[in-house]
Amino acid sequence: MAERTLIIVKPDAVQRHLIGRIIARFEEKGLQLVAAKLLQISEDEVRQHYAAHKGKPFFEPAVKFMSTAPSLVMIWQGEGVINMARKMIGTTLGFEAAAGTIRGDFGRSERYNLIHGSDSPEAAEKEIEMFFASDEILDYEFSDANWLYVQGDSPKK
Ligand code: PPS
Repeated sequence: MAERTLIIVKPDAVQRHLIGRIIARFEEKGLQLVAAKLLQISEDEVRQHYAAHKGKPFFEPAVKFMSTAPSLVMIWQGEGVINMARKMIGTTLGFEAAAGTIRGDFGRSERYNLIHGSDSPEAAEKEIEMFFASDEILDYEFSDANWLYVQGDSPKK
């Protein structure tokens, strides 16, 4: 099975009408959307999602920010998708993120950084499980798959 990553279009991006433009970036890259849900993430779920950062100064503000308005939670699939998506998202802080990245092009804030992408296969697996049942994840082929990449030219593991 191809690699999968969990992407969250965060509340600030939803409120700023950026859902379509963010999805377009992943589509244009040739990645495959295999699941999506618009939902308001509960405080408990955010605490679980950011458990590794408990105690850091941004933890409580981040919990509040992420749980107060809807987010779009998605799974994108493709060989090497975790690293590709992280590069497309850009570094954490909007005001430092490189131009050409989602955070670099659409934001200037520290806390409101628009989007989350899993940072490792282990994190992706856990995060996907938190938001999706296995029967909510679709398995399908793109009709133009042969024009997106050549078998064997995927990133080396
Ligand atoms: S760290 O401390 O280096 O591990 O932080 P980093 O990997 O850059 O970020 C981990 C997640 O915490 C979020 N974060 C913040 N949220 C709100 N406010 C502030 N100031 C803040 N700083 C970091 C950051 O966006 C990462 O979460 P995700 O969901 O992946 O974006």
